Amino acid sequence: MDLMEYQAKELFAKHGVATTLGVVVETAEAAKAAAEQLGGVTVVKAQVKAGGRGKAGGVKLAKTPDEAFEHATNILNLTIKDLPVNRVLITPATPPEEEYYFSFLLDRANRQYLCIASVEGGVEIEEVAKTNPDAVKKIAIDPGAGVDADKARAIATEAGFPEPVFEQAVEMIEKLYKVFVDEDATLVEVNPLARLAGDKLEALDGKVSLDENASEVRHPDHEAFEIRDEANPLEAKAKEFGLNYVKLDGAVGICGNGAGLVMSTLDVVAYAGENHGGVKPANFLDIGGGANAQVMANSLDVILNDPQVKSVFVNVFGGITACDEVANGIKGALEILGDKATKPLVVRLDGNNVEQGRAILNEMNHPLVTQVDTMDGAADKAAELANA
Ligand SMILES: Nc1ncnc2c1ncn2[C@@H]1O[C@H](COP(=O)(O)OP(=O)(O)O)[C@@H](O)[C@H]1O
Ligand SMILES: [Mg+2]
Repeated sequence: MDLMEYQAKELFAKHGVATTLGVVVETAEAAKAAAEQLGGVTVVKAQVKAGGRGKAGGVKLAKTPDEAFEHATNILNLTIKDLPVNRVLITPATPPEEEYYFSFLLDRANRQYLCIASVEGGVEIEEVAKTNPDAVKKIAIDPGAGVDADKARAIATEAGFPEPVFEQAVEMIEKLYKVFVDEDATLVEVNPLARLAGDKLEALDGKVSLDENASEVRHPDHEAFEIRDEANPLEAKAKEFGLNYVKLDGAVGICGNGAGLVMSTLDVVAYAGENHGGVKPANFLDIGGGANAQVMANSLDVILNDPQVKSVFVNVFGGITACDEVANGIKGALEILGDKATKPLVVRLDGNNVEQGRAILNEMNHPLVTQVDTMDGAADKAAELANA
C-alpha cells in the first residue's frame, strides 16, 4: 500500500522524524481556513500517490489565505499522472536552503535493504542520477545488522551531509530506519530532506510503501491509511469479495485458478493479441482454489464491470477443484448475473474431470460461451473477440 505524503509524514512524526504535519482538506474553503489558522505564508500541496507533483503544478506557495483558496481551487481540479486530486495539504512555507535525497528500500534481488542518499536532492533527483551518478550514493544494509548509530554515521559520511546538519542527519537516518523496519515498509523516501533556515533538517516530502502482507496481522492500525475513494473501484469490489484482482489496461478480461496460471495466461493473451490489433489483458484475477458458482459469479461480476473489457478468458486447470465444479460455477455464475453478462466468454478447461466439465458447458450451450480446449487457442479466440 502506497501512502500519501500527509500519511507518510504521520508515520515520520510517530517515530520522531522532524517534519511538519500541516492540515489536510478537501475543499478550497477549508484550504483558506487552514491557511488562516496556520498564519503566514503557506504551501498548498496536491495529495496524490504520484511523484513529480511540483512539476505538475500541484505544489504552490500562498502568501495569503485568499491565495491558498485560489491555488486549492486550481489544484483540486488537477489530474496528476491520471490521478484526480481530491485533497490538498496546507503546510507552513519553509523555503529550503538545500535539498537532499534519502531513502531506504527493499532490495529483493540482493536479499537486503538498500539506502540511497544524495546531497543533491529535490525535484531533479532522477536527472542527477543520470547525469552525475556519483552524487547518488547507494549503501547496502544487512537486514540482520540493521542501522544503529554507527551505521547511520557511516551512511551520513558517505552521503556527504555537510557539517552544520551532520548530527541531525545521523539522528534522522536512524529514525527513518525505524520507520522502515518497525512499520514493515518496502520503501521510505524523503525528497527533499531539507536544510531549512537556521540549519534545521526536516522531511519536507515523504513517500512510504507499506507491505500489506504485514499489515493485517502486525499493524492493524495501518488499515486507517486506506482511502476508499482513491482505490480503483473494481479493485475495492474485488477486495470485498476476497478476490486477488489487479486492474490492467487491456480489453481481454482474465480469470484463472492459481497465480502462476493467471500470470502465464496474461503472457499468452498479450502474445495472441499481437495478431488481433494489439489487444492486451484487462486484469489479473486469481479465483484461487474454490471455484464454486458464487466465487465465479463474483469474479465475472468484477471483470464484466470493467468498461474496457470486450471479452473474457476463463482459464482453469482443474486440480483439487475439479473441472465439473468449475463448469457448474460458470453455469451458476451466468444464471446469477443474468442480463449483466453481456460479453463473450472463452472457456478453457483442462485437468481433473475435464470431460465432465466440458460436457456441462456443451449442454448449457450458452450463446456467450465458447469452449476452446487449448490455452493458446483460447487466448487467440479471446483476443479475436476483444478486437471484433
Ligand atoms: N513546506 C514547504 N515550503 C517550501 N517549499 C516547499 C515545501 N514543500 C515543498 N516545497 C518545495 O516544493 C518542491 C516539491 O515538493 P514535494 O513535496 O517534494 O513534491 P513532489 O516531489 O511531488 O514534486 C520541493 O522540492 C520543495 O522545493
Ligand atoms: Mg518530493
